[in-house]
Amino acid sequence: MISEPATIIASAAYLPPNRVKNSHFESYLDTSDSWIYERTGIKERRWADMGVKASDMGVFAATEVLKKANMEPKDLDLILVATMTPDQPLPSTAALIQSKLAGCKAPAMDISAACSGYLYGLSVAKAFIEAGMYKNILLVGCEKMSQVLDPNDRSTIILFGDGAGASVITSGGKGLRIDNIILGLDGNLANSLYIPQGGSMKMFGQEVFKTAIQRGVEVIEKLLEKEKLLIENIRYVIFHQANMRIIQNIQKRFQIPEEKIPTTIEYTANTSAASIPILLESISHEQNQRYMSVAFGAGFTYAGAIFTSL
Ligand code: UT7
Repeated sequence: MISEPATIIASAAYLPPNRVKNSHFESYLDTSDSWIYERTGIKERRWADMGVKASDMGVFAATEVLKKANMEPKDLDLILVATMTPDQPLPSTAALIQSKLAGCKAPAMDISAACSGYLYGLSVAKAFIEAGMYKNILLVGCEKMSQVLDPNDRSTIILFGDGAGASVITSGGKGLRIDNIILGLDGNLANSLYIPQGGSMKMFGQEVFKTAIQRGVEVIEKLLEKEKLLIENIRYVIFHQANMRIIQNIQKRFQIPEEKIPTTIEYTANTSAASIPILLESISHEQNQRYMSVAFGAGFTYAGAIFTSL
């Protein structure tokens, strides 16, 4: 098989209908709408109903993106699912999603890299395609964050939302050609953000905040150097949506104009591995531009990608 550059030909998003506004937390925690908005940029998030699992949201986004890509489940060669909130320990959420896509026989596996999961998944898709092994890959980021949060921990309960995003990546095609991806991990910070077996999320917020900025800056510098670009050459910087102040800190460092930084955090909060594909869906396609994406999360993982829009 002659391989062409791996290209994201379509992306789609799914957000559950139930909106949870900041005022919800004022009713039982020592917090306020103004504190949350000023410190994070978040006004509301979506939380899925009790019976809805990460795989269900993933299937909604997957079905939508297949429609956009003019494909059917049987056309897929591989399914990758980035999630830190799997439906259950076994089998993978990817296997459950495959079973809900009628006629799909593709092998499928989960990728566990927290909020960097979508870009980690994209690197796997790129490698499979450019090695000539597969042609059509579905990458889903789906998270039911509300199931792993302690409702009484005001530093985490306010930050996260549920949702899913999905992309189809093919050998060649029109869309976002994946030019370069870099991945990183600081395993010594594994305890800065974690979920113990059977427990809820624990986070050292300031450490995560500081590391996200440091690594975000580093990733951008490395990508620009590798691709011999200046930040001015980038049309859009697609940040993982964790905290508006993290994004603004990095933005100031590089003096990136605000209009080049699309965001959804105000109404999605942090949807972890789903945040980048949800954002990708919201961006209008402009031809012959360079786009960049940056992510960071538990692990401590970080990643960056450079694309050309075709
Ligand atoms: O994808 C990666 C996922 N995680 C993240 O991106 C999280 C990164 N970290 C953050 O976003 C921020 O650290 C937080 C939003 C979690 C906290 O904001 P901060 O400005 O770093 O606050 P802080 O941790 O320095 O805490 C300042 C104060 C503390 O009170 P005391 O000890 O000074 O009395 C906190 O207890 O703010 C308090 N606080 C809150 N107050 C009102 C923490 N959460 C809240 C809250 N409402 N929801």
